Amino acid sequence: MSAEVIDGKAFADGLLRALEDDVRAFKKEHDLVPGLAVVVVGHDPASQIYVGSKARRTVEIGMRSYEHRLEEATSEADLLALIRRLNSAPEVHGILVQLPLPPHIDDAAVLDAIAPEKDVDGFHVINAGRLATGQSALVPCTPSGCLQLLKSIHGDLAGMRALVLGRSNIVGKPMAQLLLAESCTVTIAHSRTRDLPGECRRADILVAAVGRPRMVKGDWIKPGATVIDVGINRLPAVDGGKGKIVGDVDFEEALAVAGHITPVPGGVGPMTIACLLQNTLKAARVQIG
Ligand code: GUN
Repeated sequence: MSAEVIDGKAFADGLLRALEDDVRAFKKEHDLVPGLAVVVVGHDPASQIYVGSKARRTVEIGMRSYEHRLEEATSEADLLALIRRLNSAPEVHGILVQLPLPPHIDDAAVLDAIAPEKDVDGFHVINAGRLATGQSALVPCTPSGCLQLLKSIHGDLAGMRALVLGRSNIVGKPMAQLLLAESCTVTIAHSRTRDLPGECRRADILVAAVGRPRMVKGDWIKPGATVIDVGINRLPAVDGGKGKIVGDVDFEEALAVAGHITPVPGGVGPMTIACLLQNTLKAARVQIG
């Protein structure tokens, strides 16, 4: 048996085309262009690339992009002052502060300073609480993208056993909340879980988000299960080149066992930006009332 490989890039491209139509209709109806402000502090090369591609896609689907690239030495007070300005700027409907922030800045203080209705990352404690209590919320983009892929494969997820490997605030916890809201039976596993392979083998849906290259082996997977690989890990470089990017799942081994699997790259990654732009349009709709 060989798993069906889920084409996240094609799925995300379809979402972006639909979103472009929705943005056009929104502009016509409200005479207003949705705007997304992206803030990056410092010179982390990966962050610079992510922010550049977020801004490009924003413009491509007809929204306005406001980029704020700040020096590594920017103080927390100055960053908070910028966020306050963006919170009250009427042309800005979504605000994203790219992580990681430099070590002298308190992530939680910054994320919780963003107005919850403009928090398109869904990281604010108010949005996390709304998601946990089943209220309408801006939902973190990566888990939202994973859920859309899962629903495109299975339709109704009710009653399925789902295992989320990883307990981060950005992916693991919101992913578990979303699956619970779909009436899955959810297990959250992590570095201290006993018999991790055995726990994984019980899952109809396995979402891996631990940041450990190729950790999930073929014999950890239930035959026919759907495997969603959130990991983006760069292997050490060989021959002076750049190291290969791999997921948290051993793709070659998993391919022989799983029913469906996302590749890395080209699986979950492209979905994240599409979901960010979905959230920006949703935020603009909420803000105009
Ligand atoms: N850094 C890595 N992933 C993300 C994300 O989804 N949002 C933000 N703000 N920063 C990130």
